[in-house]
Amino acid sequence: MEPRILQKRSGCRGVVNGKEIVIFSSNDYLGLSCHPEVIRAASKAAGDYGIGTGGAPGTTGTTDLHQELSKAIAAFKSRDKAVLFPSGYQANIAIHHALASPDTVFHLDKRHHPSAVDGARLGVGSKLNKFDHINLENLEKSLKFNSGKSNIVSLPSVFTVDADIAPLDRIAELKNRYEFILILDEAHATGCVGRTGCGLEEFFNLHGIADFIMGSFSKALGSQGGFVAYNNMSESRLKSGFRQLSYSTSLSTISVAAALKALQIFQNDAGIYSSLKKAKSMIIHQCHRRNIKITTHESMILLVPCDNLIEAIEKLLYDGFFVVPAKAYLNGQKQDCLRITPMSLHTESDINTFVNLMSKHVIQDRNQRKI
Ligand SMILES: Cc1ncc(COP(=O)(O)O)c(C=O)c1O
Repeated sequence: MEPRILQKRSGCRGVVNGKEIVIFSSNDYLGLSCHPEVIRAASKAAGDYGIGTGGAPGTTGTTDLHQELSKAIAAFKSRDKAVLFPSGYQANIAIHHALASPDTVFHLDKRHHPSAVDGARLGVGSKLNKFDHINLENLEKSLKFNSGKSNIVSLPSVFTVDADIAPLDRIAELKNRYEFILILDEAHATGCVGRTGCGLEEFFNLHGIADFIMGSFSKALGSQGGFVAYNNMSESRLKSGFRQLSYSTSLSTISVAAALKALQIFQNDAGIYSSLKKAKSMIIHQCHRRNIKITTHESMILLVPCDNLIEAIEKLLYDGFFVVPAKAYLNGQKQDCLRITPMSLHTESDINTFVNLMSKHVIQDRNQRKI
């Protein structure tokens, strides 16, 4: 499917084909990309530092703002330090690559993000084992088989496509029994999961269980860029420096300033996160009222199985609602779905109209009933 071209966007509203639409599939969950204070901070950074940083972090590409953001995100994730990258993709590649040695066996969930897979494949001589989705018996077998090796388990806190979360409590039990390094990818958990939005460790009350936390500023924090956060103690596990950092121009100061301001707003205004949770509950509630099947995982990603995916997406767009498709694993089977993400900016009326339109346009359980 060709991407829709946005001619304008502010939060959950935008213009496609000259027509105003409401977006129900953005990763900008908290609408912080268009928060006036975030825009002001980014504009000021452009004035103070220019657009590009003009160098890698080790040369001329580190500003006081980079240092401030790195300290702020490390503190948010309760770690001693954090390293910033131009994207979450690059951060994932870098941490997997830097931990790899010929003795390393990476254990990745089959549904992990491609950036982690690509990173794990870069290690010269290291092995990659992909275990079945959230099948910890499968993982345990492989850990047993590879005992004595340098084992690394890598999982996303929230699965981007399938919307479910990693069972960190059961992974913690495995960590008690087997020696391994744990990398958690918090791209869709930062600002979206846990009592205060700190992520999966907070959700399970397992603070500090991950040896390395990777994350992105481009989802709930509404900016751009990625990070790897860890404690000084974990530093010795790194087999090399971050090549992807040393040989690439640093994250733009505009993105840094925006992410920093977004994080400050998020931490000081609990109302933004509550509005997001409320929007999610409203969508689920309205779907249930209309008999629409929808997933209810702890993440902010909602999946609506759909038998007439392309047709439904076209019709929804025609009626002013922008949603994207996903091929997700539901109950062990691949299924066409609408991938819906609530935003703190969605109003009750946006949600009611959207769900009403879904009940008109989406076919579930073809041959049985139109919902
Ligand atoms: C689980 C996960 N990890 C990493 C990334 C990459 O992050 P970024 O978009 O900042 O490059 C994504 C983005 O889609 C993601 O969903």
